[in-house]
Amino acid sequence: MLKSNILFIMTGSIACYKACGILSKLKQNGHQIKVVMSPSSLQFIGRATIEGLIGEAPVTDMYASGQNMDHIHLNRWADLVIVAPATANYINKIAYGLGDDLLTTLFLSHDFKKPFLIAPAMNTMMYLHPTTQASLQKLKEMKIEILETASGVLACGEVGYGRLLEPELIVQEIETRLLDHETTRTFNSEKMPTAKNIKVLITSGGTTEPIDDVRVITNSSTGQSAAKIADTLMESGIEVTYLHAENAKRPSHIGKRKSFKSFLDLQATLNEELRADHYDWIIHMAAVSDYSVIPTDGKISSTKEEITLKLKRNPKLIDQIKTLSPKSHLVGFKLTSTIDQKTIDEKVKSLFKTSHCDFVVQNDWNDIKNHRHQYVFYAQNEAPLALTSTDELSSALFQRIILKESL
Ligand SMILES: Cc1cc2nc3c(=O)[nH]c(=O)nc-3n(C[C@H](O)[C@H](O)[C@H](O)COP(=O)(O)O)c2cc1C
Repeated sequence: MLKSNILFIMTGSIACYKACGILSKLKQNGHQIKVVMSPSSLQFIGRATIEGLIGEAPVTDMYASGQNMDHIHLNRWADLVIVAPATANYINKIAYGLGDDLLTTLFLSHDFKKPFLIAPAMNTMMYLHPTTQASLQKLKEMKIEILETASGVLACGEVGYGRLLEPELIVQEIETRLLDHETTRTFNSEKMPTAKNIKVLITSGGTTEPIDDVRVITNSSTGQSAAKIADTLMESGIEVTYLHAENAKRPSHIGKRKSFKSFLDLQATLNEELRADHYDWIIHMAAVSDYSVIPTDGKISSTKEEITLKLKRNPKLIDQIKTLSPKSHLVGFKLTSTIDQKTIDEKVKSLFKTSHCDFVVQNDWNDIKNHRHQYVFYAQNEAPLALTSTDELSSALFQRIILKESL
């Protein structure tokens, strides 16, 4: 990973303690870090903690002697700026152009050629407040990257949106942006050959089906293979839109991304995306729940000896794709759990016949369980192709795409 200069801004949220985890990981990864803290954030984390983590004291005052020009110098020094955690107060202030302290002035003097990321952290009502939502929208229009928030139990005891994304995901987001920024610069300077004008949509990760307001049923899909395939395609200049479960692995390269939670969520996002845009290829890898729970309002009591959940069968999303986007090439994935070749053949055949897939990739749970990433690639009227790693699968898909698109 590229070693970069990261300007890390912290504002006054209870999630400041989580930001320490991010700083520690970035430092371990070899980045240079400078931290700017709002006076409120110092109520949550002391200067000594930051100095201990990054080996340098945080900057907190615009008028401190010898640091008067930091609001300009820090931006020049940085390859990337991240605000984590970002309070509602800070988000609303910068969206409206205030510059009454070092943190807001740094935003006003930001060089828009560099990435500026915001990781919000706040109570759900603050997050969903129309002022905060309008500010986030305004910042997005300025091409500021707003990271998603996680949902779950908040410090105030409420359950909902607004929780700071987990530290490892924020580190991943930062390093992805740095890599992409560097790649863009390299592409621009060296005019590398690209497979431009090919658009691919990839779905990734597992859906989560709510049982009640706080519990879910999900599956073990990680999105690792989808992220790898997305990276291989993007490295060659293919435009990838990545629809991913909230916890799924993200590709290292930046493309368009949208997250989903439940079956209904993914169905709506897929519908919206396929109606709005034409994709040359759709690689449908998400592990979609076959059943959804008829959810209970509130939280099911934890004192009952037994509870019964009622599950309702979901329609097959893959069967809807060709109706929505008849001109796209569709790659379907079939996870089997058998060694009986006849059963496998039937399942693969059904994806060609019922779902109108152009290609099918089959893998088996028994291999995954034993940490083997083996796949069989099927094209109609061709002999199946055995692949022994996700790298091989990525290359096979890339070659197919290039071959078809250059015909
Ligand atoms: C215990 C406690 C926790 C807080 N957590 C948050 C938070 O997570 N998000 C937020 O937007 N504000 C939070 N606040 C309110 C901010 O600290 C307050 O709006 C402050 O003015 C923010 O200043 P700053 O944006 O300059 O750092 C919290 C306040 C307290 C007392």
